[in-house]
Amino acid sequence: MILYKTDAEVELMKQSARLVSKTLTEVAKILKPGITTMQLDALCYQFIRDHNAIPSFLNYRGYPYTICASVNDVVVHGFPNNSAIKESDIVTIDMGVILNGWHGDHAYTFLIGEANDDVLQLLRVTKESLYKGIEKAIAGNRVGDIAFAIQEHTERKHHYGVVRELVGHGLGRNLHEDPQVPNFGKRGNGPRLKENAVVAIEPMINMGTKDVYTDDDGWTVRTRDGKPSVHFEHDVCVKRNKALILSDYSIIEAAEKNNTNLNTSYTLKAAKLA
Ligand code: MF3
Ligand code: CO
Repeated sequence: MILYKTDAEVELMKQSARLVSKTLTEVAKILKPGITTMQLDALCYQFIRDHNAIPSFLNYRGYPYTICASVNDVVVHGFPNNSAIKESDIVTIDMGVILNGWHGDHAYTFLIGEANDDVLQLLRVTKESLYKGIEKAIAGNRVGDIAFAIQEHTERKHHYGVVRELVGHGLGRNLHEDPQVPNFGKRGNGPRLKENAVVAIEPMINMGTKDVYTDDDGWTVRTRDGKPSVHFEHDVCVKRNKALILSDYSIIEAAEKNNTNLNTSYTLKAAKLA
């Protein structure tokens, strides 16, 4: 059952989503070769606690950290670790918070330094696909319209692998609510969306095969072929004419641009869509 939010609750959820955006902005400021994802995890934990919120991933179904740090072939749910980030790494940071009882949950993929054009394109197309999905998050549409738009852009147009095992989701007082929001599907299928449904839309797109496997740690999801994967996630409120994006990439992108260790050369096109 989809739990629709009141306008006041949507406003609270915006604060939750923005706290995640602010935390990701802190990450964008300090990411550089040599830093470890364990250091980022500690920073995010402290930042969230300092803002009177609770890291929602920590202990969720036994997940042991504040952030998911998914580097290169890791699709999602990578454990922070003590190895140094290096030039050309593709680093997805995904995290959630509970603020005033409401969840925020979103992700951003950063590129460290130089990379080949095929990596730049994967980043650009994945980010674009997120906004193409968001465009469909309007009252009267169905979840399949979002799913189709993402799959159309990534898989049919660019022949990337759309991960099947993991999907977006409703968000509210719980991290995972109805409906599931896949990144693949048919137009006109799935639950119908009404105003003030809040969903996390999160394309997970592989450069190569869509197939993934999970490490022995029970969490780390990797691409079967070892090629890179990119993940962008926004928290979105369904509205009548235009979806309301609760999270805020603009502050992350500003910090990303200011950080000379990060490569933003691909973002120009997608940023316009925001
Ligand atoms: N953003 C992911 C999701 O929406 C990550 C949550 S898994 C967790 O499902 F265990 F780390 F919380
Ligand atoms: Co999510």
